[in-house]
Amino acid sequence: MANILVLNGPNLGRLGSREPDVYGTGTLDDLRAELATAAPAGHAIDLRQTNDEAELIGWLYEAVDTASPVILNPAAFTHYSYALRDAVALVTTAGLIVVEVHISNPHARESFRHKSVISAVATGVIAVFGFDSYLLALDAINRKLG
Ligand code: DQA
Repeated sequence: MANILVLNGPNLGRLGSREPDVYGTGTLDDLRAELATAAPAGHAIDLRQTNDEAELIGWLYEAVDTASPVILNPAAFTHYSYALRDAVALVTTAGLIVVEVHISNPHARESFRHKSVISAVATGVIAVFGFDSYLLALDAINRKLG
């Protein structure tokens, strides 16, 4: 069975110390551990983070090539990266799941965060639940994989 790729964009490597009032105090390692215990049987969680748009796009190509479902927190790229949007579309038009997640509520924050250029091509979007957004995305993938 394919791994579930959990891909995180810029500045999410600083979770734990980055704006804890917005993002909480948990680190990516904490998130990795939470997801590992919730992974469906036969699937491993492969959680990654990058500040590099090209690397993130390369990981989405990898999802296509390995037929892997994806949980994606595009971070600030959410709001302006048409290149990332097109790469997400490559994954979903290949019939694979991409769940866009956000820890915070972008709609309740600065106006530039109100628009996602990713959502229209994602399979689904889950936001506002902190790290539980990722766990809910995992549950959605589990249900879709049946
Ligand atoms: C975020 C929201 C984005 O607006 C922001 O740039 C992030 C994190 C979230 O998870 O709430 O880096 O995607």
